[in-house]
Amino acid sequence: MLVTSRLRLREFVPEDADALAAVLGDPAAMQYYPAAFDRKGVEEWIERNRNRYRGEGFGLWGMLLKDSGELIGDCGCFLRDVDGRDDIEIGYHVRRDLWGNGYATEAAQACMQYAFTKLGVGRVISLIRPENVQSIRVAEKNGLTCEKIIFWRGYEHCIYAKSRG
Ligand SMILES: CC(C)(COP(=O)(O)OP(=O)(O)OC[C@H]1O[C@@H](n2cnc3c(N)ncnc32)[C@H](O)[C@@H]1OP(=O)(O)O)[C@@H](O)C(=O)NCCC(=O)NCCS
Repeated sequence: MLVTSRLRLREFVPEDADALAAVLGDPAAMQYYPAAFDRKGVEEWIERNRNRYRGEGFGLWGMLLKDSGELIGDCGCFLRDVDGRDDIEIGYHVRRDLWGNGYATEAAQACMQYAFTKLGVGRVISLIRPENVQSIRVAEKNGLTCEKIIFWRGYEHCIYAKSRG
């Protein structure tokens, strides 16, 4: 689907569940979510994104290291109905032992370009808890700014947004 200097993003397949469980099943990494995903939750998560590929043509994709082909996380675009409007959200998760290498920023940058050029949208957002400093840093490095703080699904979230230049 998308290729960056170090990464490849492609559609998830059911066989990715083991590798993705190492990302979404990690309680420390998922501390800003209601809970880490169990195996069934990971399988449903993959299926939810496969439904998005069929319905919208895009979704959260698997993030693979280009050199080794190892699946190390996810990143992609999906529709988000929030604060009274439909937006394209950019989401990302990276396996914890690989944090700090710039992978989320690199993948999110490619997804943002995809949203602006291929989907033709005027802006992208990321909904981020104010405590999630790493995710905020990723958004800021890619030029998103906090537009508004909302109470969403029981927690405060910043709507980070960037408009097409
Ligand atoms: C958010 C996440 C995807 C970032 O992945 P990553 O590949 O490590 O991101 P990057 O390396 O591109 O950037 C991370 C930035 O956060 C910074 N950072 C890390 N820990 C930090 C801390 N405690 N305080 C401030 N900044 C911090 C890093 O230094 C880096 O910034 P820099 O390049 O300026 O040094 C990863 O932490 C993750 O998977 N978290 C759990 C899932 C999640 O919260 N997803 C986002 C939901 S909104």
